[in-house]
Amino acid sequence: MKRRHFVQAGAAGAALLLAGEFFRARAYDDVHISKGKINTLVHRDKPSLLEKKHVPLVEAPKAVKPGQWFKVNVKVGYMVEHPSKPAHWIDRIELQLDGKRVSEIINIAGGVTSPNACFTIRLDKPGDVKIEAIADCNLHGTWLGEPVYIKVS
Ligand SMILES: [Fe+2]
Repeated sequence: MKRRHFVQAGAAGAALLLAGEFFRARAYDDVHISKGKINTLVHRDKPSLLEKKHVPLVEAPKAVKPGQWFKVNVKVGYMVEHPSKPAHWIDRIELQLDGKRVSEIINIAGGVTSPNACFTIRLDKPGDVKIEAIADCNLHGTWLGEPVYIKVS
């Protein structure tokens, strides 16, 4: 390979890498802004199949000590596990503390990752903290789970 061809190939490769980053970042932003409506569990007595498959369930200890790491599991959905297929999957799971987003996972491809997430967090201030999860389905929108309260003392 001549030096000029080598340089051209290198520049083309760098351009492709940059384009890949651009499209990945763009897809990430689209996940955030494209699902405006937030769905919740409306039919508590008789949940619909969509609710069963999409409302995230938060599992956390009832009480922790300040500064102690602990696990928060999020399962989507809370009665029927959401499918994970190449064309239909949970592409984002977000964790909120007292209504503020503190962490999230992004599932870029369907059919590979489970519809669950595990966060390891700690809380420093004594008191009651509300924990909530939000799940995004690539086909069925954004879903907010029921809040769970944890005592820090
Ligand atoms: Fe779905």
